[in-house]
Amino acid sequence: MKEALTKAYKEHYAVPQINVNGLIWIEGILLAAEKKNSPIILGTTDKIIDFLGGYEFINQLIHLKAKSLNITIPYYVHLDHGSSVESCYKAIDAGYDSVMYDGSQLPLAENILNTNKVVKYAHESGINTEGEIGAIGGNEDGMEHQIAYASIDDCLEIVSQTHIDSLAPALGSVHGKYKGEPQLGFEVMQELNERLQMPLVLHGASGLSDNDLKRAIQYGHSKINFNTEINIEWSGKMRTILNENPELFNPKTIISPTITTIQSTVENIIDKCGSTNKA
Ligand code: 13P
Repeated sequence: MKEALTKAYKEHYAVPQINVNGLIWIEGILLAAEKKNSPIILGTTDKIIDFLGGYEFINQLIHLKAKSLNITIPYYVHLDHGSSVESCYKAIDAGYDSVMYDGSQLPLAENILNTNKVVKYAHESGINTEGEIGAIGGNEDGMEHQIAYASIDDCLEIVSQTHIDSLAPALGSVHGKYKGEPQLGFEVMQELNERLQMPLVLHGASGLSDNDLKRAIQYGHSKINFNTEINIEWSGKMRTILNENPELFNPKTIISPTITTIQSTVENIIDKCGSTNKA
């Protein structure tokens, strides 16, 4: 996955990370990426890993589903917001391609210490790593924070002290729905990109304008994370089907059209990230 992000960084596009919320997400995401001939990252937070069946189950499920769908594009399984060193170890042992250790709520020294443990363990198995500085606002799978803009010094410090492969500097983005206009810190983003020259990761991309996404990619974001946007479209479709057909109870008839909704939403995201035909 490191190679995929490095290529994206050099060629100025981003590989989308789409969060998995169940089996139909896996299908919709993979079909979209295949159709668009785009690399793709399937993310799971550790907050809902039990709901998803556990690290090993979901990792194997993704690979089995990809096999049954004859998927040929490169896809990667990633731990999103690993909240402890142990959960990152578990994801690595289960065969994930990439892990994020999120120590952003800890004092910098402790964040660096723990990130280092994860990076060492991950790199022994050739696994990609992501670290975070600052705080992404909003709420994702029960993780709720106020926005805290990352400082350039802290970003330089964690990169030089840990050898992470990618960095998520929180610069005003929010998980979930934005309240008011998003205010991304583009000046800091630009300076960070000039000084770090490595793949950056943008969390909380649902609700950002196409223009903001373009600027973020221009300033080094080579992995962009989406969850809410897909879930809003999926739940809207499900609500419509149930409201328009109150007698309906056959699960396959209710659920199948929502897979197409997930797929088309992800196809649109792939276009916005510029990763179409980059597989
Ligand atoms: P959104 O839910 O706001 O799209 O954020 C997704 C994300 O950042 C996953 O880590």
